[in-house]
Amino acid sequence: MYGMVNKAIEELVISGYGEDIWEQIKLTAGVEEEVFVSTEGYPDAMTYALVGAASEVLKMPASDVLESFGKHWILKTAQNGYGDMMAAGGKTLREFLVNLPDFHSRVSMILPHLAPPKFYISDIEEKSVRIHYQSHRAGLSPFVVGLMKGLGERFSTPVIVEHAADKAAGADHDEFVVRW
Ligand code: HEM
Repeated sequence: MYGMVNKAIEELVISGYGEDIWEQIKLTAGVEEEVFVSTEGYPDAMTYALVGAASEVLKMPASDVLESFGKHWILKTAQNGYGDMMAAGGKTLREFLVNLPDFHSRVSMILPHLAPPKFYISDIEEKSVRIHYQSHRAGLSPFVVGLMKGLGERFSTPVIVEHAADKAAGADHDEFVVRW
């Protein structure tokens, strides 16, 4: 994944727990990089190792780490680094979610090696949608839940996110029903 992902984990940890804890997490993960370059590629395994080590050091389930990371990604990383792109995604939560399938194709124009997930949307109602999520990466559904909650905060529209189909439990792909 692009370095910006590891960098965002670093920011999240340092802002909440300080530099020493971050150094401890890197040591536990066996990550020796001093800095992550946002636009350079790093192995996915490094990101997974950082999340696993954060879970160990902070004594928090990995799913909670990923969910916090999802919120941070929307509210801080995407907003501060790519505010115009986020603004173009939609003016309301509903609009943003309906447009979500096209989002990463715009990101790909500036990050050409992006290997993004695929989203498609069904059951579009006034106050809910069903989000289908497909990725070649495993175990990131709590990250998606955090992303949805982050979007809820972005639009001051509190959400309830139901993980309605779970690939890890044998479903064809993950599905989330988002209600607000
Ligand atoms: C401008 C804002 C955004 C940027 C710059 C961005 C960029 C990225 C990058 C760099 C990755 C790592 C994959 C790679 O490096 O190949 C990624 C992954 C991901 N993005 Fe985005 N993204 C943005 C917004 C969003 C939004 C709004 C959502 C959904 C609400 C989202 C959902 C995801 C998910 C779930 C992954 C995990 C990878 C996977 O599932 O395989 N992203 N994105």
